[in-house]
Amino acid sequence: AAPPSRTGELPGSLDGPRLAEAAAEHGTPLWVYDAATIRAQIARLRRFDVIRFAQKACSNVHILRLMREEGVLVDAVSEGEIERALAAGYRVDGADEPIVLTADLLNRSTLRRVVELRLPVNAGSPQMLDQIGEASPGHPVWIRVNPGFGHGHSRKTNTGGEHSKHGIWHERLEESLRLVDKHGLDLVGLHMHIGSGVDYSHLESVCETMVKQVRLAGRDIRAISAGGGLSVPYAPGDPEIDTDRYFALWDAARRELVSELGHPVRLEIEPGRFLVAQSGVLAAEVRAQKPMGSNYFVLVDAGFNDLMRPAMYGSSHRVSVLGADGRFRAEESRDTVLAGPLCESGDVFTQIEGGDVESVPLPRTEIGDLVVFHNTGAYGASMSSNYNSRTHIPELLVDGDETTVIRRRQTIAEMLAPELDLKV
Ligand code: LLP
Repeated sequence: AAPPSRTGELPGSLDGPRLAEAAAEHGTPLWVYDAATIRAQIARLRRFDVIRFAQKACSNVHILRLMREEGVLVDAVSEGEIERALAAGYRVDGADEPIVLTADLLNRSTLRRVVELRLPVNAGSPQMLDQIGEASPGHPVWIRVNPGFGHGHSRKTNTGGEHSKHGIWHERLEESLRLVDKHGLDLVGLHMHIGSGVDYSHLESVCETMVKQVRLAGRDIRAISAGGGLSVPYAPGDPEIDTDRYFALWDAARRELVSELGHPVRLEIEPGRFLVAQSGVLAAEVRAQKPMGSNYFVLVDAGFNDLMRPAMYGSSHRVSVLGADGRFRAEESRDTVLAGPLCESGDVFTQIEGGDVESVPLPRTEIGDLVVFHNTGAYGASMSSNYNSRTHIPELLVDGDETTVIRRRQTIAEMLAPELDLKV
């Protein structure tokens, strides 16, 4: 199996000829994932009792199926994500809890569905406990605690502290526990997720806070969840997480709780990015290039409706340029602004948070070259939209020698159907 990408390099199986062939056969832009990289990342977290994939990072049913085959459980944040997990073959009629719904509110139809399936709900507001308790007394619930601090690669991915809407405030836990008692809810455990793309200096205080919160709750819980947030190296020099240390700190917290409660406590982890980011690329074709004053623009056929992270967070993804001969261009570089086709000035892949465009050194491109965006397996396809009435693009999965289409290109007719087919 190909080793996971450690420095922003491409997975071994996604080589020039393979990507050029995929683009020729399926058209551009398109996503390609490498199964071996996903499996290798899963293996790095096997010491946790439960790995629960935060599917919002990459919710393709076939990726979820791969996760299920590897024994990974799944987190859902919406009714649609619940249906994706069911379509991937997760069975909810057994004793384990393969699907958990994590949210800060329950809309009415999601509430009906979780009651019907008796899916554990990870509650991020007291109202969720009240609503689920009224509809389904004795329902299994988790409580997501906002510990009062958070961290993320961007302010927009920090999910802790008083500026975040997520979770139940740590000083208000008691009030929520009263609702648990009132409705006879079955409290499975406490959950904490402080943000996405965190730095690990926070880890010890997160673990400590979890132990304190369980003590404060004074309940006989059977599980704790470390949440997700594990970052991956996007560029050379980015830190690589030490998963053994990560596990050791959480395991120590768990052991403390086991000795106090006198029975086993399941330790869950809920990563999204860590499992899939390095497995995926976006390949787009260079269709135009032009000098604009002192800037040189290269325009590709993928836009922020496909890959939103640069426009949304100022995130940068390494890119490689593949020539018509199927070889990566390594020759002299030119300072380049890399942009897409959308009718919007912010449709630029090389920009800093706040929106200023940035020139980065890229190999000299020719029309028809493929630009390959690295490490886009997480929050790539799953965040894409139909903006500018562009259709959703294909997703391919490479597993060993086999390449499978796991999502075909959406047709324009499919995009228009909800407006034209108005049999309401
Ligand atoms: N658990 C909960 C409750 C979450 O809210 C999230 C992410 C995760 C787990 C997974 O976090 P991860 O392991 O992937 O860091 N679109 C942003 C990331 C938003 C994350 C939202 N919640 C990005 O592209 O960076």
